Amino acid sequence: MFSETDIKNTNLNLNHIMQRRKFIQQTLTAGAAATLLNPTILFAAKQPKVRVGLIGVGLRGRNHLDLCLQRDDVELIAIADPDTKSAIPESQAMIAKYGRKRAVEYTKGDEDFLNLLKRDDIDAVIISTPWEWHIPQAIAAMKAGKIPAVEVCGATDLQECWDIVNAAESTGISLYMMENVCYRRDVMAVLNMVRQGVFGELLHLQGGYQHDLREVKFNNGKQPYGGGVEYGEKGFSEAKWRTNHSVYRNGDLYPTHGLGPVAMMTNINRGNRLTALSSVATKSRGLHNYVVSKGGANHPNAQVDFKLGDIVTTSIQTTNGETIVLSHDTNSPRPYSLNFRVQGTKGLWMDDFNSIYVEGRSPKAHSWEKDEAYMKEYDHVLWKNYESQATGAGHGGMDFFVINSFIESIKRQAPFAMDVYDLATWYAITPISERSVAEGGALQQIPDFTRGKWMNRKPIFALDELGY
Ligand SMILES: NC(=O)c1ccc[n+]([C@@H]2O[C@H](COP(=O)([O-])OP(=O)(O)OC[C@H]3O[C@@H](n4cnc5c(N)ncnc54)[C@H](O)[C@@H]3O)[C@@H](O)[C@H]2O)c1
Repeated sequence: MFSETDIKNTNLNLNHIMQRRKFIQQTLTAGAAATLLNPTILFAAKQPKVRVGLIGVGLRGRNHLDLCLQRDDVELIAIADPDTKSAIPESQAMIAKYGRKRAVEYTKGDEDFLNLLKRDDIDAVIISTPWEWHIPQAIAAMKAGKIPAVEVCGATDLQECWDIVNAAESTGISLYMMENVCYRRDVMAVLNMVRQGVFGELLHLQGGYQHDLREVKFNNGKQPYGGGVEYGEKGFSEAKWRTNHSVYRNGDLYPTHGLGPVAMMTNINRGNRLTALSSVATKSRGLHNYVVSKGGANHPNAQVDFKLGDIVTTSIQTTNGETIVLSHDTNSPRPYSLNFRVQGTKGLWMDDFNSIYVEGRSPKAHSWEKDEAYMKEYDHVLWKNYESQATGAGHGGMDFFVINSFIESIKRQAPFAMDVYDLATWYAITPISERSVAEGGALQQIPDFTRGKWMNRKPIFALDELGY
């Protein structure tokens, strides 16, 4: 069993980044009162265009850049990223290709994004940086009066989940949580089925991140996938920073792709809430074995002691009596699957093998049928309306909806469908699961980041064709 101190010690390498982030947060808190702004003040009149800055224009940031450049209602003003070798020039090349005005660059180190935030011609920022930067950058944005959209991950510690809720409440600026899997076509059709009672009353849901990331966590420092077993300073893209989380942490490091969609189906933070979890982890084998098989037993990385268990399983309870199981499985050879299962009193759907069973409707008792006919019948109106625009966008089209929802919500002054309370709750799974794993699977309470507001908040995600 690990003590609190043991857990802290294993995170030593992340500590210098954390120190810088804390410093930035404290500095910003001190000057916050003068810069508090409210979105309703910012957007007193409905506006046709949103002026955007991008913080982090690596592989993911450039997906968002591309989608922004395709929109007439987005004015791309500035980009912040210290990588002047590839991220910045490749972004400017994309901007030029679309015939748009060159973006103003902020490239002087990790904190130059603060200067981007000082501009008075930016309304909103999209944050696609390494995980440890998401919350400090989003807080800085809110305190500078900019509306942040934040990429997915888990929190570094529980306190930062409270910090971001407090920042949103004190500034009056919410944020948009960019969980793209909530917009996956089959997931939205299943949400439709849940809302129409096809599965009866919900009982049990599963989701997860089951993705063989060995070629993402290691590469040759020149390309994003494979070709070598380097990481950290010698790695490229996510191998530069993501792998370190597998060296020092053991928990569900990437909970939101699995949790976001099932949270929407169970109305988490809107009439329901997550109350407690327990996590267990297998031994760690996959990353070490990969280094040895591709780089040899004498490669220095063969000596690294990876803390992350190959498969981390988290069981969550809700106020309304459902159970949710999340899996994090990124170090082993396996086909990609987000492991969805949505089960109620009348039947269930499973992502793997597109299988469904509904009592009284499925032709044969005790037997799966293919979900194809259901997917057509319950196709969500958002997909019907936006299919042509979404086609070609990343991850089977769902990335289009994330940017669309963010920009349209700002233009219409509508609340975000995935907001700061969702981000805090979903991100919190990571540090809470780390603690549970360290304590042998002991049950941990999940805080109510809404401070009781969940009882009166109503579901708003994808209720109509607008995509809120
Ligand atoms: N939703 C999805 O489907 C999806 C897919 C891929 C990645 N992601 C997420 O997007 C985020 C970025 O991932 P990525 O694949 O683009 O990684 P990446 O390493 O390719 O890009 C990260 C970029 O951030 C820059 N950066 C680092 N520190 C910075 C700072 N302080 N200020 C500004 N820029 C900084 C880096 O130089 C790099 O260009 C991660 O949170 C990742 O989990 C989400």
